Amino acid sequence: MMGRLLVTGGAGFIGSHIIDTALEAGWEVAALDNLSTGSRDNLPGDVPLYEVDLRHPEAVHAAVADFRPTVISHQAAQASVSVSVRQPVLDADINILGGLNLLMAAHHYGTERVIFASTGGAIYGEVDAGRADESAPVRPYSPYATSKLAFEYYLQTFYQQWGLEFTVLRYANVYGPRQNPHGEAGVVAIFTARLQAGLPLQINAREEPGDDGCVRDYVYVGDVARANLRAATGQIPRLMNVGTGAETTTRQLAQQLAATLGRPAELEFGPHRSGDLKRSVLDPGMSRAALGEPLDLTAGLQHLANWLEART
Ligand SMILES: NC(=O)c1ccc[n+]([C@@H]2O[C@H](COP(=O)([O-])OP(=O)(O)OC[C@H]3O[C@@H](n4cnc5c(N)ncnc54)[C@H](O)[C@@H]3O)[C@@H](O)[C@H]2O)c1
Repeated sequence: MMGRLLVTGGAGFIGSHIIDTALEAGWEVAALDNLSTGSRDNLPGDVPLYEVDLRHPEAVHAAVADFRPTVISHQAAQASVSVSVRQPVLDADINILGGLNLLMAAHHYGTERVIFASTGGAIYGEVDAGRADESAPVRPYSPYATSKLAFEYYLQTFYQQWGLEFTVLRYANVYGPRQNPHGEAGVVAIFTARLQAGLPLQINAREEPGDDGCVRDYVYVGDVARANLRAATGQIPRLMNVGTGAETTTRQLAQQLAATLGRPAELEFGPHRSGDLKRSVLDPGMSRAALGEPLDLTAGLQHLANWLEART
């Protein structure tokens, strides 16, 4: 038995993959989630779920007191940039104050380590050329980026004050099975749902309508889960990007996904979406050294297609 891992946001997209990977590796696992965007169906039936909102300190403390995790993988969040712009107080309430409720409970009940789902995409801002490595300047231009960065600093503080170990993982754009298509983020999930429904795919402009769209670094969710598991045993640096370093335009993604799913790609072109980064690519050097080569987009989309196929 490896230890006891509590995954907040465990009923969500990334959290549920962390749970699958942790179970395979022999961890005792539980999820904490308020099911606001996650679903019980994402969890294996025998995994305990604490249906708790991070904003309720007593409930968070009761869950941590009951499960007594050795490690917490903190994935639960208000995870939408545009919601954070419209409702910065809500974003901070969940991502900063809710996170602090969790850290207080972790400290109080003797958790050894907290792993945090941070965001390379939002924290580095525009990456005009090359790739952002972990020492790149931070430019938190959305309330979401600011709340994630603030929590990174709180982790430092809890470590300095009380010795609570931590790992910050700054994810690129994550995709894979179980991603929720019902938002405005998660372009792979949105395009997948539209292709399956025979609907056109919209390429929002990088500069002008009709161009190839914004540039992103798409990382497969299985690699993100592996990074979390490796972090759980303290085998990776305190701050690490989780990306591939490969750059993909929205048009390339649309065409490659359509080809992988065997569907025709009908493209539509929209204007630049205000607030969207034009280019975001992460340096994968550190995570490659820790975890090996990440899956490339071709292999990752094929995994997604196989999963979709198995469901029908
Ligand atoms: N998906 C990406 O590309 C990406 C990129 C960078 C960082 N992240 C971060 O990774 C984490 C997981 O994201 P995801 O894509 O799996 O999103 P998701 O929405 O599928 O998962 C988030 C989970 O947190 C839960 N949750 C939300 N608010 C809560 C609250 N107040 N109390 C308890 N639970 C709450 C939701 O119900 C959901 O199950 C988030 O912290 C997100 O900010 C994601």
